[in-house]
Amino acid sequence: MNEIVLNKIGTLYHKLGEDAIQNLVNRFYDTMDSDPNAAGIRAMHENLDSSREKLFKFLIGRFGGPPLYVEKYGHPMLRAKHAPFSIGTAERDQWLSCMQRAMDDCIGNKELIPFMKDFFVMVADSMRNKTE
Ligand code: HEM
Repeated sequence: MNEIVLNKIGTLYHKLGEDAIQNLVNRFYDTMDSDPNAAGIRAMHENLDSSREKLFKFLIGRFGGPPLYVEKYGHPMLRAKHAPFSIGTAERDQWLSCMQRAMDDCIGNKELIPFMKDFFVMVADSMRNKTE
């Protein structure tokens, strides 16, 4: 991952705070759950409560806060965790569209959104596992 982006996202936890990260994750999955355009990726998720808990813990650590995800679940190994699901450009774009809406709704400091977006785009793109 690009070091500059990595360094900048490392300060996000302090700039955003835990409540904003929790709100972001909740809004993200609420959007995925209700937007017909995200029905494809929604169908891959069984229990959104556990998805909310895992993404929240993952982002807290990744954005520079306490390593909650790693303490509970170990190394994320995100590519391996996503391997059972068929993810191509359409699925990536559905995910990013839900996250964009969540950021627009929940992040008060708009200057932070481009850094968060760079990070989400990079990770989401690397989850693609389908030849198209
Ligand atoms: C590219 C489109 C993506 C799709 C279609 C997708 C789909 C899924 C699915 C179906 C699961 C399993 C259900 C669950 O545990 O919630 C999952 C888990 C997870 N995803 Fe994604 N995901 C995508 C991108 C991302 C991105 C960009 C991130 C982080 C920035 C992420 C972080 C996670 C995490 C932390 C888990 C929990 C892993 C575990 O411990 O089981 N995902 N994802």
